[in-house]
Amino acid sequence: MTIIEYSRESLKEYYYLVPLIPLLAWVIYYRFVTPLAKIPGPFSASLSRLWLMRRSVRGDMHQMYIDLHRQYGPVVRTGPTEVSIADPAAIKPIYGIGTKFTKSGWYAGQEVSLFAERDEKVHAHFQKLISGIYSMTSMVDFEPYIDNTIKSFMQQMRDRVGQSVDLGKWLQLLAFDVIGEITFSKPFGFVQEGNDDGSFKSLDNAFAFGVWIAQVPWLFWIIFNLKCLIWSSQGVSDDMGKVFSMATEEMNKRKKLGVVDRPDMLGKALKLQREKPAEVNDGVLNVIAGQNAIAGSDTTAITMRAIIYYLLKKPAYMARLRAEVEKNQTQGLLSNPVTFEQARKMPYLQACISEGLRMHPAVGMTLPRVVPQGGIRIHGYFLPEGTTAGISAWVVHRDEAVFGPDADTFMPERWLKGDTKEMDVSLMEMSKVLPTLLMNFDLELADPKKEWKVNCLYVYAGPFVVPAEFFVD
Ligand code: HEM
Repeated sequence: MTIIEYSRESLKEYYYLVPLIPLLAWVIYYRFVTPLAKIPGPFSASLSRLWLMRRSVRGDMHQMYIDLHRQYGPVVRTGPTEVSIADPAAIKPIYGIGTKFTKSGWYAGQEVSLFAERDEKVHAHFQKLISGIYSMTSMVDFEPYIDNTIKSFMQQMRDRVGQSVDLGKWLQLLAFDVIGEITFSKPFGFVQEGNDDGSFKSLDNAFAFGVWIAQVPWLFWIIFNLKCLIWSSQGVSDDMGKVFSMATEEMNKRKKLGVVDRPDMLGKALKLQREKPAEVNDGVLNVIAGQNAIAGSDTTAITMRAIIYYLLKKPAYMARLRAEVEKNQTQGLLSNPVTFEQARKMPYLQACISEGLRMHPAVGMTLPRVVPQGGIRIHGYFLPEGTTAGISAWVVHRDEAVFGPDADTFMPERWLKGDTKEMDVSLMEMSKVLPTLLMNFDLELADPKKEWKVNCLYVYAGPFVVPAEFFVD
């Protein structure tokens, strides 16, 4: 045997190591070569997106991002090509109007909608197209619809005076019915029933599954294409209950009857379709109706829960809010339900809403965006084109440099010097519900010593940070 033959023979013993070469190359590149290698973060996160996926399943992403930045600094590597940024100055370039950053592959795992549209040009066009439907004039048209549902909600609470109620669940029923009212002039009937029709569970399952699988888009692609085989084993179904079927049913019914003049969102969308038939097809209408239910219900319910929970935990602030409501009531300035116009003139109420939104942002993850051509330099680190970068509201809202050393404390007073807010459906709903609730009821926590449980997805809803087990007497 020659020396060469001998070497070949002995190398044969190591052939099984050949598949490890790409793996080794991967580790070397992502640990030492990529410009992101200098950015601190958990070791395994720098090598695989499975780290993010595993953390998504745990249901504590909101706290995870805060902890990561406290440990590693303003820029943290959370994936082989992903970073989380804790700098408020980066919000504008990443998310501001005219940004060149696009939505990341995470959104590929979501339903087609304005929310999920990843082409920034298409997104901006779509946003402009439907902006009138979400405009200030529209908000005024929607208020009577919100009143119907608030009245029915207050009646349900009145029927339960003296009992312990799961206010978290009731606020969710309310928020969904409000969306039904403003979108189709019809509540889903959840408040009336005191329960939903299974839609919450379907949505929760879909979100809980979608949020971690979307962290690994290729896995999502495989599962999506095999979904008929494995969907049911994940508890996910295409049937989202009344919330989605109502959108299609209402649209078809109105088109058949030629009804296009209702001042609700679907009515405004149908009018838009008549004006711009080439741009607004039935798919667009469905998207508007469906995305409202997804984007506007859980988020508003979560925020209302947070505001009420923190106020109940801090009786001094609750007393100050109650005093503001009572003073306005005594002066004959409040109707029942309170109007948005009346609520906007209550500075402490508005400060409580801002503080609730700050302390408990409904979305717990970063909103991941892809760095455009040319890359970007942040805090001395270069993020090349194609890097995924995102900012978590939880991190920015708890930043002591912005909100002071008491950033972790609920304190509405910090907003009193404050600014005026934009008008939107949630703000209108929260502004009306909170004082109306306090005008009509005394609330206290069923167990004042118990802290609430918070899930960033999993049992409850997708990327949302959902307070659970929130009972009041
Ligand atoms: C307190 C309540 C709310 C919170 C905290 C909230 C939060 C958010 C956040 C963080 C996003 C950005 C998502 C991303 O870029 O990944 C978003 C998008 C969106 N939300 Fe809300 N939302 C609320 C209420 C509502 C309501 C009531 C509606 C509808 C009536 C709504 C409709 C939408 C839509 C259509 C988008 C997509 C917009 C776009 O991509 O241009 N949201 N929301």
